[in-house]
Amino acid sequence: MITPPPYPASRPRRLRRDAAIRSMVREHRLAPEDFILPVFVFDGDGPPQDVASMPGVQRRSIAGVLEQAEQCVALGVPAIALFPVIDAALKTPDGVEATNPEGLVPRAVRAIKHRFPGLCVLTDVALDPYTSHGQDGLLDDTGYILNDPTVAMLTKQALVQAAAGVDIVAPSDMMDGRIGAIRHALEAAGHVHTRIMAYSAKYASAFYGPFRDAVGSAGNLGKADKKVYQMDPGNSDEALREVALDIAEGADLVMVKPGMPYLDIVRRVKDEFRVPTFAYQVSGEYAMLKAAAANGWIDHDAVMMESLLAFKRAGADGVLTYFALDAARLLARR
Ligand code: PBG
Repeated sequence: MITPPPYPASRPRRLRRDAAIRSMVREHRLAPEDFILPVFVFDGDGPPQDVASMPGVQRRSIAGVLEQAEQCVALGVPAIALFPVIDAALKTPDGVEATNPEGLVPRAVRAIKHRFPGLCVLTDVALDPYTSHGQDGLLDDTGYILNDPTVAMLTKQALVQAAAGVDIVAPSDMMDGRIGAIRHALEAAGHVHTRIMAYSAKYASAFYGPFRDAVGSAGNLGKADKKVYQMDPGNSDEALREVALDIAEGADLVMVKPGMPYLDIVRRVKDEFRVPTFAYQVSGEYAMLKAAAANGWIDHDAVMMESLLAFKRAGADGVLTYFALDAARLLARR
């Protein structure tokens, strides 16, 4: 019989004994500058409208979005991402409203940059809020999403956003070659400072459900899905190929989406490429945490912070999260 040693060879618990030592050896921490706040904007005036499947999130007028922008500035959240709720009457099969220089998004960008020039503004480059069928691109007769004609439309959309003064365009459509096409067009138009954050590894995920309610594209999309352009959840190496393409085509920052179920992808991307890597804690992730917290099954604030910290640990440089303001407020109180 082997006699056990009288003492453990090592006592890792020494470094967990009290709050002071824990804080000294902590490897990752959260700060307000880790967050990007996604906001939903509608045209016209009126009070904020609750999004039923996203408790605590509202659709807002441009004036309402300016109030949120002010909160970001006050709390040190450096960036805001705009998602438009487009009037049904403006939706068409080709989504051409996306390229209107006087459309909702360019007006919202100008308003925010005018009031808060130091706040970084991101805009989504994708057609789904603008198409009558709710897909991110143009369709052929069989309903297949056409690549190159879609890229041509997205390029116009990105140019309009850049001309309005947006800091970062974020193509979220997953068409082939769109980063290169957009980068080329931006350069040719003299928008040399406009950054591209590519939704490089964007999966065909069921976690986007509440977002589609929020922007009002769920009804347009119906039972259709986006599997012929967004990535298969079973794939991991493919994410690295997508990121490699986007970097080669001119992306400044890359993104993985959804977030928590795909932290393995965040880590692989960061380790492989060492470029600024972001993750999107999407609407369905937010809704799950909110629902469980509302039932008293989990502690809202504790789980919010733990979920966000997980992104940092996985290697993300920042997180798009609907919790941005709540988390920043909590950090300010500490
Ligand atoms: C649109 C877009 C989507 C999201 C961001 N941009 C939805 C989709 O691809 O269907 C999802 C964000 C979220 O769920 O929070 N291209």
